[in-house]
Amino acid sequence: MISKKMQDAINFQINAEIYSSYLYLSMSAFAVNANLKGFAHWLKVQSGEETKHAMKLYDYLLDRGGKVELAPLKQPPVHFQNMLDIFEQTYEHEKKVTGLINKLYETALKENDYPAQVLLQWFINEQVEEEASAREILEKLQLLGEKATGSLLYLDKELKKREG
Ligand SMILES: [Fe+2]
Ligand SMILES: [Fe+2]
Repeated sequence: MISKKMQDAINFQINAEIYSSYLYLSMSAFAVNANLKGFAHWLKVQSGEETKHAMKLYDYLLDRGGKVELAPLKQPPVHFQNMLDIFEQTYEHEKKVTGLINKLYETALKENDYPAQVLLQWFINEQVEEEASAREILEKLQLLGEKATGSLLYLDKELKKREG
């Protein structure tokens, strides 16, 4: 069985992952409206990844005989300035999530929850990837500057290639 503390902490993280999914979906819709289908595609795939993260925790909690308690979702932002704004927010958001995962791992250590520690090592590695990919796109956008429309469209084409 899983401790109540660990159960609450995992339920909290499920909410954070589903919120991430919601956030990227909102960004994806904005990109569709801006006619940047590659960005929209990348963000939609990212939204799907976040749902998978939530489901990993959800399945784990149930496997351990825990109780899933889904909490209300915060509304994500609807208006963005441009793709640079979106990827600044994405990178900041991923860094915040990394902090949450680290905190969750600390809880697993304190609770002597060894299976949770193993599960969370996957998430710790995943966050390294997530931060790196968000930072890469952000830095490319920063290189472009304001009016480099041609380059923006090239990057849009590149992002369209993401699998998933
Ligand atoms: Fe995630
Ligand atoms: Fe993420």
